[in-house]
Amino acid sequence: MLFGGGRVMRMTPGMTMADTAVPQHEIQALVDSLYATYRPLSDGDVATYIPELSKADPDVFGVSLVTTDGRTFEAGDCDREFTIQSVSKPFTFGMAVEEFGHDEVLKYVGVEPSGDPFNSIELQNGTNRPHNPMINAGAITVTALLHKHHGDRTLAHLLERFSTIAGRELRIDPDVYESERRTGHRNRAIAHLLLNFGIVHADAEAALDLYFKQCSILVNCRDLAMMAATLANMGAHPLTGKTAFSVQCVKDVLSVMFTCGMYDYSGQWAYRVGVPAKSGVSGGVLAVVNRQLGIGTYSPRLDRYGNSCRGIEVCTELASRLGLHVFDCLNIGSGFLDTIL
Ligand code: DON
Repeated sequence: MLFGGGRVMRMTPGMTMADTAVPQHEIQALVDSLYATYRPLSDGDVATYIPELSKADPDVFGVSLVTTDGRTFEAGDCDREFTIQSVSKPFTFGMAVEEFGHDEVLKYVGVEPSGDPFNSIELQNGTNRPHNPMINAGAITVTALLHKHHGDRTLAHLLERFSTIAGRELRIDPDVYESERRTGHRNRAIAHLLLNFGIVHADAEAALDLYFKQCSILVNCRDLAMMAATLANMGAHPLTGKTAFSVQCVKDVLSVMFTCGMYDYSGQWAYRVGVPAKSGVSGGVLAVVNRQLGIGTYSPRLDRYGNSCRGIEVCTELASRLGLHVFDCLNIGSGFLDTIL
């Protein structure tokens, strides 16, 4: 059994069950080999629309896996910090769902994939809600809900919660924040459109400022793997044991990540990789293998959707080599039928 979660390694002819036991070092060998395979990949470009992001070293590359019992397997630049950007979106959504309940949150934001780029200026016909919380319009709406409730304390509240999810104290990169605040005209337009339709409260500028700060939280790729492992571990941090989210809330977050987390690549991602995930324009990818492990990758060169090129390749190959896809024939699911037979 791999990770003790009801998932087995692929069998080949002549193999016996004894051959399928995977000692820890084999996972490390796989991570090392994926790192070596994709390190030469130089497809894609570093994001420049937030000027400070254009300073990122395009060659930096890190891969980290954290199991729900806290074992870590990693390769490359796993200590290099970068801003979390859109990878923050599932976590603020989770905070809002937990604090206000999903019926209340869904009055302001939908859960439908948009099929449009992350920064599109578009709302749902009829309701005027953003399509989902993983695109900018939806994330700004969620942050505005938190701000409406917590006012000036929201940033501290957010940092505290993100730190619990990551298991270490996180802070903001003031230069990236300032750079986005100065140049975020498109997000400002989105915030004012939301204000026009009464989706965000009157202090839309303060909520937008908070959104810029939330995107500027510094993490490394090990943090992303830990945060993913917290979700995989039903909301409890694998090492500290602290509860960051309730199990109901984790279900809501993972559902939206699964359908909308990789922007207008979400359908292909669900088909090829098949686990809930979220990417960000600084080059981070966070993926959750339910009840088993968290994956974090960092590489700043992005494809045309805004997803990290190396991150996509590493996750795709990991999923195929380990049978991680939720609908993989080797994934036996929760086994609830066994409990009622
Ligand atoms: O709102 C923005 O444009 C950025 N702060 C975050 C965007 C982002 O990461 C989308 N990612 N693919």
